[in-house]
Amino acid sequence: MQPLYEGKAKRLYTTDDPNVLRMEYKDEATAFNAEKKAEFENKGRLNTAITLAMYRMLEAKGVETHLIDQVDDINLLVKNVDILMVEVIVRNIAAGSFCKRVGVEEGVEFNTPIVEFSYKSDELGDPLINDDYAREMGLATPEECAELKQKALVVNEVMIDFFNRCGLKLVDFKIEFGRTKDDEAKIVLADEISPDTCRLWDIETGKKMDKDRFRQDLGDVMGAYEEVLKRVESAI
Ligand code: TMP
Repeated sequence: MQPLYEGKAKRLYTTDDPNVLRMEYKDEATAFNAEKKAEFENKGRLNTAITLAMYRMLEAKGVETHLIDQVDDINLLVKNVDILMVEVIVRNIAAGSFCKRVGVEEGVEFNTPIVEFSYKSDELGDPLINDDYAREMGLATPEECAELKQKALVVNEVMIDFFNRCGLKLVDFKIEFGRTKDDEAKIVLADEISPDTCRLWDIETGKKMDKDRFRQDLGDVMGAYEEVLKRVESAI
């Protein structure tokens, strides 16, 4: 069966119900806009399980997501939403492209979280944009930008607290949102929440437990993902 859409880490398939899609998590990992690629056995399974647990935890805290149900180890059923072409990044601690862009040392804690928008375009490498770009490019209205920011900060608060209970510091993360196709046209959380899309540091040791292990060649990438899943499942 041909996927409706294939991204770097997932494939989307139609189902018998036009309102429902099947999201399959691949074992492939990419970094630096796919300049670096590798396959990790079990990554699809681990990210499926982590995303599922995170979505269920967030739903219980009143954050709506596109999740419907789990199909198997690497497939989730999700609502067929219109994905907004704006990615939302929240940063609690300086890392990654933030450090590169402004020359701040990794590990500096922010007093108040930083929210960033980027334009969801693989071709352009997801460039940083702001509300004005989003408005003029027709990606999101100013009201929608405000809603994305507000929702992302709620997700941040809930996840900081949850990961704390897992002995993990939530450094930063990227989330995506979609608009439901029903009359309500609600903006809900979509895509995934996993060590591919969050930076997580062990509170005790500072060990990086996320995709930076692959980006920076730190080794034992899946060992860290396994450990994140174990802690997430025991904190639920
Ligand atoms: P960055 O520091 O590289 O901009 O990444 C910020 C956060 O966003 C980090 O937790 C990793 C995540 N992220 C993605 O999920 N997808 C991406 O394509 C990139 C570049 C980052």
